[in-house]
Amino acid sequence: MLFSPTGFSECLREWEDLERDYQYIQDTHRLYKQKLEEVTKLQDSCSGAIARQRKKLKELTVSLEECKENHPTTKLSPEDVDAITGMEDSIKERVDAFSEMEAFLPKKNGLYLTLVLGNVNVTLLNKLSKFAYKDEYEKFKLILTVILFIFSFTCRFLFSYRALDALFNFLLVWYYCTLTIRESILINNGSRIKGWWVFQHYLSTFLSGVMLTWPEGALYQMFRNQFLTYCLYQSFVQFLQYYYQSGCLYRLRALGERHNMDLTVEGFQSWMWRGLTFLLPFLFFGHFWQLYNSITLFKMFQLPECKEWQVAMCSCSYMVLFMGNFFTTLGVVYQKYMNNQDKPKNI
Ligand code: COA
Repeated sequence: MLFSPTGFSECLREWEDLERDYQYIQDTHRLYKQKLEEVTKLQDSCSGAIARQRKKLKELTVSLEECKENHPTTKLSPEDVDAITGMEDSIKERVDAFSEMEAFLPKKNGLYLTLVLGNVNVTLLNKLSKFAYKDEYEKFKLILTVILFIFSFTCRFLFSYRALDALFNFLLVWYYCTLTIRESILINNGSRIKGWWVFQHYLSTFLSGVMLTWPEGALYQMFRNQFLTYCLYQSFVQFLQYYYQSGCLYRLRALGERHNMDLTVEGFQSWMWRGLTFLLPFLFFGHFWQLYNSITLFKMFQLPECKEWQVAMCSCSYMVLFMGNFFTTLGVVYQKYMNNQDKPKNI
């Protein structure tokens, strides 16, 4: 290939620039790898030190408890008793501080994540990536909610094929299964999701799996329309939940980031209560629908022609779902109400 003198000198200059850039990339990457090693060492030493301190604090708490119990015989002075109380308070504060620190340190996966993913580190190491992951989880739920809404509408009003129903139930199994994995990762990263909500998704996976295996027949057709209408309603409620949960997420994030506090804690609380009072009637209606499903299936189970085991299994599952969802939601609202009472109005 022939180069004209100007063309070749331009190429040469370009190549020299690329060489310099390549040198820079190599140096930066070397530095990056070195820093990664340093970070890993820091993580190990920090985790180790926290574990040692936790163990010692536990032992110290037991010793202090014994000192207090033997108080009449050891004759502690009032100053000593005050010092013990002070130490116990500091120990509680320190344990909380360790929990906060551990949210940014790698930890061992629980049994479920180890079984599903193996022993891979799923701890996100900064607030921004934790927020982004949670945001993505909410968006994932929203997209699937829309798909499930359209799917259940199609099955309910447009096409009535057992194969299409099976596909719909398979999608539900996959969706709930994915949620349980994502939620375990969120918990690993410091999310305060209550155990029941995760268990609810395990149970929903099971329920959808049972629905998938329910053979076509008179009983299946008897429950089909009620089930699909319930799924439609659930998608609608999930959409409202998305609006509320993502609103909470963005406002809490803004609270954490804005130092001038133009979005106040009080402002957040009032937004949260407005959102919650709007959402609650829809949630409770959904819970009672679950109870209604359970009773309908129980009545079907008592029919002489009922041979399918799926009927009883679904009835029990809906009953557990109703009780768990209803009482946990009541508990959450009560807890929020009590916290609201305890908090000073202005921060
Ligand atoms: N699924 C997944 N995560 C949930 C959740 C749910 N149902 N409810 C709460 N969480 C998460 C929150 O996002 C928050 O996460 P974070 O620590 O990462 O920020 C954490 O759990 C603590 O939330 P909390 O303050 O206890 O509740 P909330 O104000 O976010 O939501 C409710 C309260 C009652 C609105 C919510 O729990 C809910 O929608 N429950 C009803 C679910 C239901 O019954 N579904 C069936 C409908 S038919």
